[in-house]
Amino acid sequence: RAIFQQKQDMQGLKVLVTAGGTRERIDPVRYLTNDSSGKMGYALAEAAAQRGAHVTLVSGNTSLNPPPNVKVISVESALQMYDKVMELLPEQDAVIKAAAVADYRPAVSADKKIKKTKDHMTIELVRNPDILAEIGTRKTSKQVIVGFAAETNDVETNAMDKLRRKNADLIVANDVSKEGAGFGVDTNIVSFIRPDQPPRRLPQMRKRDVAEAILDEIVTIRTSKSG
Ligand code: CTP
Ligand code: CA
Repeated sequence: RAIFQQKQDMQGLKVLVTAGGTRERIDPVRYLTNDSSGKMGYALAEAAAQRGAHVTLVSGNTSLNPPPNVKVISVESALQMYDKVMELLPEQDAVIKAAAVADYRPAVSADKKIKKTKDHMTIELVRNPDILAEIGTRKTSKQVIVGFAAETNDVETNAMDKLRRKNADLIVANDVSKEGAGFGVDTNIVSFIRPDQPPRRLPQMRKRDVAEAILDEIVTIRTSKSG
């Protein structure tokens, strides 16, 4: 899709996207992470920039190239992502939390490489803060907040629960157990979950087209908030 065909309906909007998986340090050479490729978030950032938005992408680890005309800020851990997002939140018109944030981190991260002295070892984990839920408590009436829900079962029920718990305006639910959806692949199969609306089920689409559909939804929600 060439830029000149792109609609400019996000002109001047400030959009923050998070993408990729976080890395939770065990020691200087080891960490816990997940299978997120960052593709969905990068597609969103690229598409929003092409539609005229000022886009900041707070990115965990990915192997993707930075999208054109997007300000990329790299972070490693959930705690670092939390700090960056909270710092940038007040100036945003929309926030899209496509990152796969680790739910737990090691209680201590060793400053030297851990040696294999024991036959068994246990790593104690502690809960990370929920970035999206914190955004939900801080958001203004005009800000549009979008989260994802990666589920393997009871997708829409779980997603509806997350929408309420995190005070989001839209949850993009995807069934990661389906082929052609979720981690690593170039397509996704999603449902849009909004307060007081029936779920909107989209067919299997390229992540780039899913991104455009999510941005359409954000523009609609924003209009309904300011109207
Ligand atoms: N999320 C977040 N901070 C976390 C965990 C999740 O901001 N510490 C965000 C994700 O970026 C995503 C949404 O919350 O937009 C849902 O993430 P998900 O892992 O599906 O939900 P959880 O609330 O972590 O619940 P669970 O993993 O138990 O299903
Ligand atoms: Ca989680």
